[in-house]
Amino acid sequence: MAHSTVPLLMMLFLCTLSSNSSFQPALVLEMAKILLENYCFPENLVGMQEAIQQAINSGEILQISDRKTLATVLTAGVQGALNDPRLTISYEPNFVPVMPPALSSLPKEQLIRLVKNSVKSDILENNVGYLRIDRIIGEETAVKFGSQLMESIWDKIAHTSSLIFDLRYSTAGELSGVPFIISYFSDPESLIHIDTVYDRPSNSTKELWTIPSIVGERYGKEKDVIILTSRHTTGAAEAVAYALKKLRRAITVGERSAGGSVKVQKIRIAQSKFYITVPVARSVSPITGQSWEVTGVSPNVHVIAKEAVAKAKSLLAIRNSIPKVVQSISDKINRFYTFTERVPALLQLLESTDFVSVVSEEDLAIRLNQVLQTVSEDPRLTIKYMPEYAANVEEGPEDDRVPDDPGLLMEYIDTLLKVEILPGNTGYVRFDKFVKSSAKLEEAMAKKVWVALKDTANLIIDLRYNTGGSSTSLAIILSYLQDTSQKQHFFTIYDRIQNSTTEHNTLPKITGPVYGSKREIYVLTSYYTASVGEEFAYLIQSLHRGTVIGEITSGTLMHSKTFKIEGTNIAITVPFINFIDNNGEFWLGAKISGTTSPTSKVHGEDETIHNAGTPATLKGREKAGVPAL
Ligand SMILES: *[C@@H]1O[C@H](CO)[C@@H](O)[C@H](O)[C@H]1NC(C)=O
Ligand SMILES: *[C@@H]1O[C@H](CO)[C@@H](O)[C@H](O)[C@H]1NC(C)=O
Repeated sequence: MAHSTVPLLMMLFLCTLSSNSSFQPALVLEMAKILLENYCFPENLVGMQEAIQQAINSGEILQISDRKTLATVLTAGVQGALNDPRLTISYEPNFVPVMPPALSSLPKEQLIRLVKNSVKSDILENNVGYLRIDRIIGEETAVKFGSQLMESIWDKIAHTSSLIFDLRYSTAGELSGVPFIISYFSDPESLIHIDTVYDRPSNSTKELWTIPSIVGERYGKEKDVIILTSRHTTGAAEAVAYALKKLRRAITVGERSAGGSVKVQKIRIAQSKFYITVPVARSVSPITGQSWEVTGVSPNVHVIAKEAVAKAKSLLAIRNSIPKVVQSISDKINRFYTFTERVPALLQLLESTDFVSVVSEEDLAIRLNQVLQTVSEDPRLTIKYMPEYAANVEEGPEDDRVPDDPGLLMEYIDTLLKVEILPGNTGYVRFDKFVKSSAKLEEAMAKKVWVALKDTANLIIDLRYNTGGSSTSLAIILSYLQDTSQKQHFFTIYDRIQNSTTEHNTLPKITGPVYGSKREIYVLTSYYTASVGEEFAYLIQSLHRGTVIGEITSGTLMHSKTFKIEGTNIAITVPFINFIDNNGEFWLGAKISGTTSPTSKVHGEDETIHNAGTPATLKGREKAGVPAL
């Protein structure tokens, strides 16, 4: 940086030098000297003085006679060259320096009044403490009046369950007071290095550390602390907000703070009426290697300053609810989650996860979901933020009132499926729903479908409008597509609630003609094909009994229960049934996409997946395939 800034600076001075300009070469040298002795980033000034001297000797000239304009031009040049907006040069013929009286030199009574007036405290609902500090007092004052301040203010606050620490109006203060404040929010056992301050005029570096012994009770490091900031928050208050935020000891809410400086001085340039304003000290956080200076402290949660208290209160309420939410989620998983062997690890991770930086209910839902996904690798087990979600909806068996009357039954079947024979003697059947089977229904279906299609050359099963139904009918339909002489295992269902495992195989006896295993089957899918429709398409692939053609399916989760966690907008979906295919693979209910070949391709892909070391649980997620035909 130094190397690129110096020539720029030199150019600037070249342009302003003139024997009869209002800014003499001697002043330029003096300004450079001030910078060299006071600017808090001396490393950026390397070589500057030599460069200026050379520029003077070579005698380039440009006249600016108006002094204010000259000051503006110089300011732009210095700021640009050193990339620091705090450096300014001003022309002020009437400037009278006023030094604010040092706080500690005030009469004791006045000082106490002043300090007390800059602090407000309150106890809000739910034992939430509220502490507003408008001026951070320095070390000297703190040591002198610590016990008095304790009695009147801190003692009340120390016993609250959580704290809103309002620094929105804190525009004055001393950096030396920062360690005191941080100390109240940390442990005495492990001292924390908060800040390193370099002061250029004294060429000294001071480290700020928390203090082992302080007056009064500590707030400790466990209870929630929310710091409020506004765009006016500046100086020492920014140091407090920055340190507590970066230490992850507090959440900051409000506006980005002003971006002040540790110390800025206005220095007269020789005996002229020009002044240069220079930041003479700088702060570096050992936590981040950076600083709150100039850029300010950005809040964890952005709201306009006016709304910060309300936001902080709602945030505290959310954070308060976390243990209960975690407990409730653990209960649901423990009771319903179908992968019982994954439950202990899930519960353990939920318990040990630190949700300390959660800033909203939605944020909490996202974190919880991440935790579940990490352990379960099960896309069906999810936690979502669902403000619109009303009640606990469970996926249950659909209401299948199959009519008894033979005429009505046929009419009912007509609404569920269509049968046709297409040119080329291709059979076509469209199922829009898998109805729970019964003897009567089976008989009617046999007539309507299997008798009608028995002599076709091949068969298209159209599931593009199929949104599910009962998975008990899957085995029946699949049985028609196999040779009944051979018993085949289609799939297995494990039901966590019943704690039962059911195998679904070729039925020993079916009504009507069997379609058999020889003729080609094509299954059509769409984005709308869902739940049991997807299971059917999946089985056709895993049994290598046909080709799936069409759009990727909807990926509708099957066999799960969704619960809204009481008092929140967080909902958990827990799968309580596992669908295990004929290869012993768990299908996690994701989208099915078409395949080109009913045999080799699907199988080949599965093997690739396993060889690549991907967990078996990923099986069934978007199998890539090129729909052809
Ligand atoms: C500042 O102090 C350091 C040692 O602490 C020294 O190496 C350095 O030369 C000093 N710089 C100036 C400009 O005095
Ligand atoms: C589930 O059933 C198996 C035997 O089939 C038994 O060993 C196990 O303890 C049962 N689990 C529960 C949670 O009831």
